[in-house]
Amino acid sequence: MKFFIDTANLAEIREAKEFGLVDGVTTNPSLFAKESENWRTLAEKICQEIEGPVSLEVVGTTAKDMVQEARELVKIGPNVVVKIPMLLEGMKAVKILKEEGIETNVTLCFSPLQALMAAKAGASYISPFVGRLDDMSSEGMELVEQIMTIYGNYNFATQVLVASIRNPVHILQAALLGADVATVPFGVFGKLAKHPLTDIGLEKFLADWENAPKK
Ligand code: E4P
Repeated sequence: MKFFIDTANLAEIREAKEFGLVDGVTTNPSLFAKESENWRTLAEKICQEIEGPVSLEVVGTTAKDMVQEARELVKIGPNVVVKIPMLLEGMKAVKILKEEGIETNVTLCFSPLQALMAAKAGASYISPFVGRLDDMSSEGMELVEQIMTIYGNYNFATQVLVASIRNPVHILQAALLGADVATVPFGVFGKLAKHPLTDIGLEKFLADWENAPKK
């Protein structure tokens, strides 16, 4: 499973990269709104920092606007994947962009039928938002499971990119289901490495080492 980092913060991207954990980046308008730097300058820096795919989202809501924006966004870097919202107009845009060789990530997916449409339109990635479903007492991972089944039934090439991840269990479940990618907030990366028995074990090893004969 590939790990993308879900942030527009360059310092977070650089730090996660040092752990060898960043195969790509996903951003969205809300993530850029948290940063102080001009979004385009920042997007260029992110594309230079990371070799893998960097998702940048359109803000238009008609196919015409989305396609125009997408053509501009891909000028930012060779690794740009254009994020398109899961709308009927979005599906039109995905189809046109695929014909132009532009990669797309269909975002804000909350149902398996939306994912089926995105795959048929030719999306490169589908982003089911598991955390936002869990937040409203739904079962986000059921959606991922259904998408994996549908895509497997028909051998769709669209990659399943599990998004809106809130905790390490989401990543475990996504990996067990065979999802292609998990896009992970920086804070959750840190939690992946933690286990209390690791900390207790290391403390004991270091204490015992003090007593080991050194000569
Ligand atoms: C995915 O590409 C989105 O940027 C992101 O995962 C949304 O997560 P949120 O629900 O925490 O905003």
